Amino acid sequence: MVQLTGPKKIKCAVFISGTGSNLKSLIQFSKKKNSPISIELIISDNAKAKGLKFGKIFKISNKVFNYKNKIVAEKKIISEVKNKKIKLICLAGFMKILSKNFIKSFKGQILNIHPSLLPKYKGLNTHQRALSNNEKYSGCTVHFVNSRLDSGKIILQKMVKINKHDTTKSLSQKILIEEHKLYPKAISKIFSL
Ligand code: GRF
Repeated sequence: MVQLTGPKKIKCAVFISGTGSNLKSLIQFSKKKNSPISIELIISDNAKAKGLKFGKIFKISNKVFNYKNKIVAEKKIISEVKNKKIKLICLAGFMKILSKNFIKSFKGQILNIHPSLLPKYKGLNTHQRALSNNEKYSGCTVHFVNSRLDSGKIILQKMVKINKHDTTKSLSQKILIEEHKLYPKAISKIFSL
């Protein structure tokens, strides 16, 4: 593993739309001495996203973009991210689908975390669908983002057992605990030699 400390850390932006528990775990990870990343920017499409509070708590710049016009919003985000010399984008519960153009602008530099064992259950309502199908296991996946939804190269996955009493709530809680560990691990994996 290359020692990436101080100014050599890879500048990272985290995109959120909601609670931001993965954002929080990524911030905590970024503060560790051997972490390869430093989080320089938090981006949201939702001014009411609870996770924005972590920007204030950890003194990281927060930017909210109005998505009424997606093309305009993305243009602004691209210039903000480029201006800040961000080299890695981590989607963490970001509920907007990035355009092909956006993804092309950051080829191989965008990661996402998804609450299922991809390629199973791409898209929304993953826990509900896993339970309705009587799956014995679900889990989470960190993957590179390409132009097809939840289909980029998988970096790491973690399996979680489904019990017969699980509800969407209990399953999502169990999986979130694993997500908080998996995202940092996946980032360490891609930056280790
Ligand atoms: C997580 O389950 C993540 O996998 C999915 O959206 C949820 C975001 O949760 N993409 P949080 O905002 O990080 O708490």
